[in-house]
Amino acid sequence: MDRPLLRRLPRLLRTRLPAQLPIHLPTRLAPPLRPSNPLPLPQRPDAHRRRLLAVGGAMLLPAAWPGLASAQSASPSPSPQQSVPRPSGSKPMQIGVIGSGRIGGTVGGLWVKAGYPVLFSSRHPEQLKPLVDGLGPLARAGTVAEAVAFGDVLFVAVPYGALPEIGKAHGRGMAGKVVLDANAYRHRDGAAGEDALANGIGPTTSKYLPGARIVRAFNFTSASDFATRHHQEPRIAIPIAGDDRAALDTASELVRDAGFEPVVIGPLKIADSFAPGGPLFRQVGSAEELRQKARAAVPAQPAGR
Ligand SMILES: NC(=O)c1ccc[n+]([C@@H]2O[C@H](COP(=O)([O-])OP(=O)(O)OC[C@H]3O[C@@H](n4cnc5c(N)ncnc54)[C@H](OP(=O)(O)O)[C@@H]3O)[C@@H](O)[C@H]2O)c1
Repeated sequence: MDRPLLRRLPRLLRTRLPAQLPIHLPTRLAPPLRPSNPLPLPQRPDAHRRRLLAVGGAMLLPAAWPGLASAQSASPSPSPQQSVPRPSGSKPMQIGVIGSGRIGGTVGGLWVKAGYPVLFSSRHPEQLKPLVDGLGPLARAGTVAEAVAFGDVLFVAVPYGALPEIGKAHGRGMAGKVVLDANAYRHRDGAAGEDALANGIGPTTSKYLPGARIVRAFNFTSASDFATRHHQEPRIAIPIAGDDRAALDTASELVRDAGFEPVVIGPLKIADSFAPGGPLFRQVGSAEELRQKARAAVPAQPAGR
C-alpha cells in the first residue's frame, strides 16, 4: 500500500490543489528518507492489553522526563495555573480525548502533566479507571458524548474505520471545534481506509467530521516515541497540517505543551506526506531537520486561512 501511495502523491496533490495556490511540485518525489526510528508498525493487541499499554505509556511519562518526575513528587497534581502559562484569570483549554488507547492515553497523559483538564473517553469508560487514577485529578473518564461536550479541543485517536460512525453519532457536537486527528488507516479500516487512500487522509477526515476544524497531528510516529521522547532537547518535531490558521495555532500550542516542537507542513491536502507511506513518516528529529526533509520531499504550500 505504501509504495503505490508514494508514487501517486504528486498526482494526488496536483489534482486536489485549488487553482489559486502557488504550486511547486517536483516532477518526482525524493526517495523515501530512511526512518530515524525504524520501528515496526505496532501490532493490534486485544482490548485489555491495549488499555494496559495506554496506562503503561502514561506511567512512562515521569520516568522519561526527570524534571517532571521531581515536580510530581513535590506536587502530584499540578494545578493548571502552575503548569500551563496563561494570561491571568484565563482558564486552560479543556481537552476531550476520543479513543484512549496507546496514542490517546499517551498524548492525553502528556497534556494532563502539562496542567490541562482532560476527559478520556471510550465506549467502555469504566475500563479507563487505571489510566485516569494514575494521572491525578485533572484526568477523568467518560463516554464519547461526554468528551465531545467537555472538550474545547478534541483529540481523536481511534481506528480510522471508526471515524464515519463517530461522525454520524457526534458530528454535530464536534462541528466548530478544533479537532486534532491522530488517526492512520490500515488494511483493517475498510471503506474509510480506501477513501483516505484514494482522496487523501486529511480531506477524508474532514468529510467524516464535517464542520470540525481538523488538524492532523501526533500520527507520524509511534505512541512509544511520544511516551519517551517528549521534552527531549532539542525538541522532537511533530509535523502538523490543517486548513484553519487559528486551529493550527491551537494545535501548535498543544504540541509544545506536550513537549514537542510543531512544524506546519501545509494544508490538509498534504497530510499524506507524513502518514504511513509518505516521505516524512517516522522522520523523528529536530524541527530544523524536519523542515529540511520537508523542503526536499514535499511541495511548498500555504497552510491555513
Ligand atoms: N499506536 C501507535 O503507535 C500509532 C501511531 C500513529 C497513529 N496511530 C493511529 O492512532 C489511532 C489510535 O491508535 P492506537 O494505537 O492508540 O489504538 P488503540 O490502542 O487500539 O486505541 C484505540 C481506542 O479507540 C477506541 N475506539 C475504537 N472504536 C471506537 C469507536 N467506534 N468509538 C469510540 N472509540 C472507539 C477504543 O476504545 P473502546 O474500544 O474502549 O471504545 C480504543 O481505546 C489509529 O488510527 C492509529 O492508526 C497509532
